[in-house]
Amino acid sequence: MTQRLALITGGEGGIGTEICRQLGAAGRKIITTCLDPEAENIEQWASNLRAEGIDADWVQCDVSDNEACVKMAEEVRSRFGEVDVLVNVAGITRDAFLHKMDASQWYSVININLNGAYNVTSQFIAGMRERGFGRVVNISSVNGQTGQFGQTNYSAAKAGLHGFTMALAKEGAPKGVTANTVSPGYIKTSMTAAIPEQVREAIVAQIPAGDMGTPEDIARAVAFLTADEAGYINGANLPVNGALFCSF
Ligand code: CAA
Repeated sequence: MTQRLALITGGEGGIGTEICRQLGAAGRKIITTCLDPEAENIEQWASNLRAEGIDADWVQCDVSDNEACVKMAEEVRSRFGEVDVLVNVAGITRDAFLHKMDASQWYSVININLNGAYNVTSQFIAGMRERGFGRVVNISSVNGQTGQFGQTNYSAAKAGLHGFTMALAKEGAPKGVTANTVSPGYIKTSMTAAIPEQVREAIVAQIPAGDMGTPEDIARAVAFLTADEAGYINGANLPVNGALFCSF
């Protein structure tokens, strides 16, 4: 069987890198999008993964820019082929109480975290449907299920990903294309390291598992949902949050 191609947006981040590693270990060819190759030292990132035996490459793309995503998709097709597995990881926080949040904090989070998933997924979904195989995973968040202080923008975007995913699952199911969300809780990355220490400690104290999770925990869920054998798991949300929030 030909090697399946997996595109991971924001694949060079804490969670993204581990997703690349685990999907690569599962035999996928890995491509990540990156915003600024130099600032992100992306060549070094790719060669580190290659040294581990992962078939990794990258393309430059701002996922919040629809035109850039059209060009990125053309580049991916011409250099690497058709995308079979897509994981929308690229995301930012711009935390502030709504009464202190300016419009740029609102729009940047919605444009990257939610519109970015649309901009990228819409480039590849027709091809997946035509070929009768596709796996889309959108990385949401526990805070898209519960809300969080200072995150009206982020919680709205992450909740929006659930609606996007469920509708896409219904559209894709007859064509062998699945769409699911993974909802991380608090995970040890630079994003959670930026939370003010006192607030972070208060959050960790509420996690029944007693600690934050790791990027490996999230990647394991993504690898499960993107496996060839996972075709009947569709429109689901897989929470990975140490029992911080439990629901049906
Ligand atoms: N729980 C309870 N109270 C909270 C709180 C929380 N999570 N966050 C803030 N507050 C309270 C503060 O204790 C404070 O209370 P007092 O006025 O009684 O002292 C009040 O709200 C105002 O807080 P600040 O003084 O910190 O106000 P600020 O305007 O400077 O900052 C904030 C507000 C931006 C929300 C800041 O507190 C903050 O960054 N909080 C962390 C937000 C957060 O959890 N972000 C998650 C990032 S990680 C992520 O998003 C990944 C993921 O998917 C899970």
